[in-house]
Amino acid sequence: LSYLPNDSLFTNVIFYRSINSTQMAAQKQVSDGMTHGTLVVADEQTNGKGRLGRTWHSEKDSGVWMSLIVKPDIAFEQAPQLTLLTAVSVTRAIEKLSKVNVTIKWPNDLLINGKKVCGILTEMQADTDRLLSVIIGIGLNVNHKQFSDPLTDIATSLFIETGKTYDRSQLIGGILDEFTKLYQLYLDDGFAIIKPLWEAHASSTGKKISARTATTVIEGIALGIDNEGVLLLEDEAGKVHKIYSADIDLH
Ligand code: BTN
Repeated sequence: LSYLPNDSLFTNVIFYRSINSTQMAAQKQVSDGMTHGTLVVADEQTNGKGRLGRTWHSEKDSGVWMSLIVKPDIAFEQAPQLTLLTAVSVTRAIEKLSKVNVTIKWPNDLLINGKKVCGILTEMQADTDRLLSVIIGIGLNVNHKQFSDPLTDIATSLFIETGKTYDRSQLIGGILDEFTKLYQLYLDDGFAIIKPLWEAHASSTGKKISARTATTVIEGIALGIDNEGVLLLEDEAGKVHKIYSADIDLH
């Protein structure tokens, strides 16, 4: 990883040519006692994990497949804020290198021209009331020439959007650089400093969306996020719902 920034938070880098999932490898690191500042990265994942038990397609050499292990001194309920912070970090890194416009679909999808280019999977380890560590998985589609059905309509890559190929290690370096900066700001000043950065890229604010939670579907207008990073959704009756976890469809 030639582009790893000098002052990166991630001083311990574990690299695989091929692995089932960097997320699972990171979990093993955590159970072996390795926590803060570890980066697990792979050229290929044979069993990449998406949110909600989905599969994440992670072809060899075509994307950034990596997991970050951090151990922030924050409350358990705040951990989802790290997903939003990571979304901003990746967005900034992409925009710096490619000049393409990236939007964020709450909580964790990065879109270019309405199609998903990156997904983020945040998993936490906690005992009863204490957050022990957080593993943030980042899957970024970089040099894919095309996607096959049924992904063509919903997925995209930096190559597809810009016609250029990218050095994945340069992207990784850019992401770690942004993450390290924002993470420090976040620890010093709290989520309030991240919120406007996130909002500047939000794709859904002011738009009609439906939120599918584990138990129900709520339709309404996305008002944005609150100071905790929770999505606020106003239904037709004018009631504002706080959405902690859901799949969002933009209308
Ligand atoms: C999503 O469903 O949008 C989240 C996708 C997260 C994929 C990344 S790729 C690196 C890390 N390892 C995994 O198995 N998943 C995450």
